[in-house]
Amino acid sequence: MLAAPLSSLESPSFGVQMDFSSSTEAKDMGLYVSFESWTRKRKIVSIGTNTGAEKLPFQDWHHFKEAFTPEIIARAASECGHSVHTCIDPFGGSGTTALACQFLGISPTTIEVNPYLADLIEAKLQSYDADDLALDLSRIVRATSGRCGRLERFTGLPPTFIEAEGMERWVFDAAIAERIACHLDAIEALERPHHQRLFRILLGGMLIAVSNVVVNGKGRRYRGSWRSRETQPRSVDELFQSRAQNAITEIHQYRFRRHCGYTLLRGDCLTQIPQALGADLAVFSPPYPNSFDYTDVYNVELWMLGYLSSPDSNRVLRTSTLCSHVQIKRDFGPPPTGSRRLSLALGKLRKVRTELWSPWIPDMVGGYFHDMQKALSLLHGKLNTCGELWAVVGDSRYAGVRIPVAAILADLAPVLGYRVLKLEPFRSMRSSAQQGGRCELDETLLVLQKNT
Ligand SMILES: C[S@@+](CC[C@H](N)C(=O)[O-])C[C@H]1O[C@@H](n2cnc3c(N)ncnc32)[C@H](O)[C@@H]1O
Repeated sequence: MLAAPLSSLESPSFGVQMDFSSSTEAKDMGLYVSFESWTRKRKIVSIGTNTGAEKLPFQDWHHFKEAFTPEIIARAASECGHSVHTCIDPFGGSGTTALACQFLGISPTTIEVNPYLADLIEAKLQSYDADDLALDLSRIVRATSGRCGRLERFTGLPPTFIEAEGMERWVFDAAIAERIACHLDAIEALERPHHQRLFRILLGGMLIAVSNVVVNGKGRRYRGSWRSRETQPRSVDELFQSRAQNAITEIHQYRFRRHCGYTLLRGDCLTQIPQALGADLAVFSPPYPNSFDYTDVYNVELWMLGYLSSPDSNRVLRTSTLCSHVQIKRDFGPPPTGSRRLSLALGKLRKVRTELWSPWIPDMVGGYFHDMQKALSLLHGKLNTCGELWAVVGDSRYAGVRIPVAAILADLAPVLGYRVLKLEPFRSMRSSAQQGGRCELDETLLVLQKNT
């Protein structure tokens, strides 16, 4: 890569100036940033988790605990029995598959139901001019210096979000919320929609850090010391600026990817897969049937950044996600009949229904496999001849009843027109990030091949 060194000069008026103008156009010379220069040949514990691995550029724009390692996409592309030009991920998350595909020279299609995460994916895949971004960052810094934001923009948010008279607990101190509002106003005043999206995402990725809460697999809870924490309003400005400068630097350094295009489909993959083009490979990790609702995990970002505007929009989003949780009342599809393992597990779950923390769990587990069977069937229709499907899936357990997800999907695969090539449990038997990291549950790589 022949990127020019980044010069970062301080401007007295608004503090940011980044100059990329002297960069050599490496792309014109046929030089690309390799996949390995992005992943730096780092050591990974297992292909299913990023735990312990060195953080990669782009991947900390929003820390996404459940992101799998990009190395699995490289492995799938090289071990797949044929050359791979196109790849689909119907559960996009933070966009690992699509971004890895760009570095590998593969045309990616990604589907994501959560609009904040869809924007995170698109912000990573988009091409930008770093000079233009730096100019827009300067505009934001200028527009936010010494100005106040409008707290009214947060009217309509859930009542505990912003500090107000008479409240006992709140997610954001009023002074912090004011700085966030000021930045959102400045971002929305930018001319280019893709710049707005990038800066909004970078602001989104730091919201929890300046809030009074922490979020993990079990949901949101207040920090132990939140009342005495006293986050300074100026830390919003400082953090945003440093995050934006880092992101622009990464965008500039890694701009010459082998494939610059992408297709992003927003919405439920069960309705979006039919809109996708054909693919040689599918690589994905769906939600696991562990009652973990991604809408909850990203709720702060969804509301603060304006992706949700009413309880109804929140409910609509939750019902569009895969049946992997029981947080809302919804119709669960009937379980497929082609797996004895599934029938046995459901029978045991129904017997202990009254011991479960939600009586809907057996129906949710049945609905999960209904949805997954539909997703596998729709993907079958999109995969090219001999196309392969690589899925990282995780088991669940309720009241001692284990749900062996990979084995059940492997049972269902032949009827859907697939041959099972691999069922590879990861050596690490620690429970997955999606399971909150406690009891021991398998995560498994399942590889299927479309029958000719
Ligand atoms: C385990 S995460 C994927 C992580 C991803 N492999 C990565 O590396 O970032 C699963 C994702 O599926 C999304 N999802 C859930 N239901 C969906 C649906 N019906 N259609 C599309 N995406 C869905 C969730 O919002 C979540 O982002």
